[in-house]
Amino acid sequence: MRIFDIIDRKKNGNTLTDEEIRFFVQSVVDGTASNEQIGAMLMAIVLRGMDEWETEVLTMAMAESGDRIDLSSIDGIKVDKHSTGGVGDKTTLILVPLVASLGIPVAKFSGRGLGLTGGTIDKLASIPDMHTNLSEDQFISQIQQIGCAIATTGKNLDPCDKKLYAIRDVTATVDCIPLIASSIMSKKIASGSDAVVLDVKCGRGAFMKDLKGAKKLAELCVKIGKKAGLRMSAVISDMNEPLGNAVGNSLEVCEALDLLRGKGQKDLKTLTMCLASHMVLLAGKAENTKDAEQMLQASLDDGRALRKFREMIRHQGAKDITEDPDLLPKARFRGVVTSEHDGYVSGLDAARIGHAANVLGAGRLKKEDSIDYSAGVYLYKKAGDYVKKGDELLCLYSKSKDAIMDAEDDIRKAYTFSDTKPETGNIILEEKF
Ligand code: URA
Repeated sequence: MRIFDIIDRKKNGNTLTDEEIRFFVQSVVDGTASNEQIGAMLMAIVLRGMDEWETEVLTMAMAESGDRIDLSSIDGIKVDKHSTGGVGDKTTLILVPLVASLGIPVAKFSGRGLGLTGGTIDKLASIPDMHTNLSEDQFISQIQQIGCAIATTGKNLDPCDKKLYAIRDVTATVDCIPLIASSIMSKKIASGSDAVVLDVKCGRGAFMKDLKGAKKLAELCVKIGKKAGLRMSAVISDMNEPLGNAVGNSLEVCEALDLLRGKGQKDLKTLTMCLASHMVLLAGKAENTKDAEQMLQASLDDGRALRKFREMIRHQGAKDITEDPDLLPKARFRGVVTSEHDGYVSGLDAARIGHAANVLGAGRLKKEDSIDYSAGVYLYKKAGDYVKKGDELLCLYSKSKDAIMDAEDDIRKAYTFSDTKPETGNIILEEKF
């Protein structure tokens, strides 16, 4: 079998065989396929597509391309959550301790941010002394002791995805449903949890710009996961404007702490509670959504969720920022952007805000870039709010004054205004069980 012939067959629109897909994955991992060949194959998949069966085979071959985590020594149904990536999405920081506070083990592997979307590991790494690089033994032992952990995936978990993702990123082949589904589900299957809720983002700040594509991706992922023996559900959520008010690592940790204390933005709370209640249902700890939400709300109200967060970060070596949030990195410079219009905010472009946060230093454009944990954007006004000329729209934070000036012009374009109050949509667009 030759990689050249497999590329040629996909280029001509053929359905690949099990052997061909597995040969491709093997060649990616052992280095016999060149980066040019991998890029060509990915583009052939983007242009010619892959059917459901091919995507399933690709997913399983990728999941088996490296280590698979064995969580069987942890009692109970282990639940996981995965987001397709959004701007200002700090739900993981909240729902991991929240769900674990109900006695449900949560084994969460997370990634670093790349491009517009932030990564949970970067947010956690903004907490002084926090270790996110746990060995498999440390990860499992922490979950056995306190019920949850958030860590980076080990070097050899799904090495095929690591290589494919890096090449997709530079060959314009990221936004392809079979490639996204196989990338997400192969990692979830290899990560060893029993149940997964997916948060498929839809809108300007997401890979999936429209609901049709988001639904297709959610359905495909749920199907693949169930076939692999996982309990699965999915939520499709709006990502036209950023989630919550904060975008940027330490700013988002502060906002997550607010929510764990029962305060915070409505869209963030609604989505977090929705995803967390899916996790509770998947774990079989509640009969219905209403019961699940009541259990979760009780944990927020009596402080169990916040105490679990504190326990988790202390276990991972961090300073106790729940007692002293001033320990989080603070930006040297801030710049307030004011409105040049009277009217209602009719829209707030998540992609532009994500881009501005990167310019300020909050994200990385290349894997090797370093991050300014204090940098980011805090939104005072979002879609539906009324503003007068001169009112504060948002605040920019950075260690670089120049970066604030660079971000300022562009970030104004993120806002659109209208004379009439716009309908502000629901953050939850659809749920799939
Ligand atoms: N998240 C992933 O893990 N993979 C993708 O391809 C897209 C989003």
